Amino acid sequence: MTDQYLTTLLDTQDAVSTAVELLKQGECVALPSETVYGLAADASKVEAVNKIFDAKGRPKNHPLIVHLPSAEHLIQWATDIPKQAYELAEHFWPGPLTLLLKKAPHVPTAVTGGLDTIAVRVPAHSQFLQVLKTFAGGLAAPSANRYKQLSPTTSEQVMQGLNGRIPAVLEGGHCAHGLESTIVDLLGESPRVLRPGPITPAQLQQVLAVDIQVPEQFQDSVPGNVEAHYRPQTPLHSVTTEQLQGQLADYQSSNVILLLRSQALIEQVEQSYPAIKWQRMPNNATGFGKELYATLFNLDQLGADKIVLETPPNTDDWRAVNNRLSRAVTPLPI
Ligand code: TXA
Ligand code: MG
Repeated sequence: MTDQYLTTLLDTQDAVSTAVELLKQGECVALPSETVYGLAADASKVEAVNKIFDAKGRPKNHPLIVHLPSAEHLIQWATDIPKQAYELAEHFWPGPLTLLLKKAPHVPTAVTGGLDTIAVRVPAHSQFLQVLKTFAGGLAAPSANRYKQLSPTTSEQVMQGLNGRIPAVLEGGHCAHGLESTIVDLLGESPRVLRPGPITPAQLQQVLAVDIQVPEQFQDSVPGNVEAHYRPQTPLHSVTTEQLQGQLADYQSSNVILLLRSQALIEQVEQSYPAIKWQRMPNNATGFGKELYATLFNLDQLGADKIVLETPPNTDDWRAVNNRLSRAVTPLPI
């Protein structure tokens, strides 16, 4: 596809109504959500949904999440809905939780990548919700990036990837979470996390009072969750704190940017290695997750030879961050 749109940034008073107007006409519009920006289109129109795949360059068998104005709309999109879906919806919607259910028969398979299941969520970002409530229907929306590139957490990042390929982007500031929603499969015997995200297994368990399955490897569980996803253009390597401490001298004269998080390491760099290029990342999972994509996006513009990231802890609270990083990093030769 060649560029065919003059992409408008919608940032005036009537931005929401313009976005709804375009969506009603069967166009795609990038919308801010509390996780990442999404590229939305009318989920009931095959032609509109196909425009999402064209703009992103995404393979057609990768299913999309359908965003709803409220949990009351669930019955129009899913069937055989378990009680657990309503319990989770009650607690976490609007919010960063996507539920995998059996799809209602009339839902176009263009949305579900040919599957008979459907992923649904009610997003919390006020403008996305306003669009949904005015639109009064379901909006299919994957992250608003070109296929395999970083998910956007600002409108600027959406523009960088999709300028000329979509009619409009709704301005909505920096996304609060910065990582995609948690996906929970409610089709099996017990709930299973398909993609870790802002809502943790412990939170799900607290509401449902049953065990939550959390696979060690998430690669195969979600179509499109391919290995080399979220990868910046500049090679990104993950190096442990201990290894970094021993390597600092090597980075003095190199065109490498370090992403550091632990205070001791930062002090060591500040006191002894003033020539090193480095940037501080939050030393907690929530803060780190919020900054991750935006940081990689910005560093990608600087033309460094590589980015070296201090490996985060391997604990439960860092699960969503480590899941995204496992795809974003280029493995080092052993
Ligand atoms: O936070 C989010 O979830 C963002 C915002 C925009 O809502 N959306 C998002 O969409 O991350 P996307 O397309 O980048 O990721 C959706 C994931 C994909 O990995 C897809 O395979 C999975 O959801 N998915 C969607 N429908 C599915 C289905 N029927 N069965 C299994 N996986 C599904
Ligand atoms: Mg995505």
